[in-house]
Amino acid sequence: MAKIVKLDPIDEETAIKTNDNLLSGLLRNELNVLQECGGRGMCSTCHIYIKEGMGSLSPLNRREKRTLEVITTCKMNSRLACQARVIGEGVVIELPSGMYLSEIEDIDALIGRRAQQDILHPLSGKVLVEEGKLISRSMISQLKDTRGEIKEYLAKTEDYSY
Ligand code: FES
Repeated sequence: MAKIVKLDPIDEETAIKTNDNLLSGLLRNELNVLQECGGRGMCSTCHIYIKEGMGSLSPLNRREKRTLEVITTCKMNSRLACQARVIGEGVVIELPSGMYLSEIEDIDALIGRRAQQDILHPLSGKVLVEEGKLISRSMISQLKDTRGEIKEYLAKTEDYSY
């Protein structure tokens, strides 16, 4: 049996098989949801807000709780789409604003331009560059360093089992 989940940002509905995670539905609908950690509950790129229907999702697991604790934009209704499984009807979700650093293909191309939206840290969700801010060469090198550190961290944790 499938459950209907509403995606608030694009005002669409999607059917998700009971007990499947929200990420499968988000991807199917081509929302721009990254899976920086590969769906292991270790990053912020699938962080979402549950506008309605929190009780229709599986409870938070330990991993999810720990990751949400470091996400700076975490609220009472935050979940990780790769960890939250749909068990009932009436779930309405919303995505946090901004874009993740890992979505930017060519970082160098941003030099001298203004950020069109907040650029977020893929693990903590922290705002690295605020929307409208002019991006300097030194900021670019910082962003590249951060990207390298994240890759290293996730590679190191690849064998981690729940
Ligand atoms: S994809 Fe990384 S926590 Fe969900």
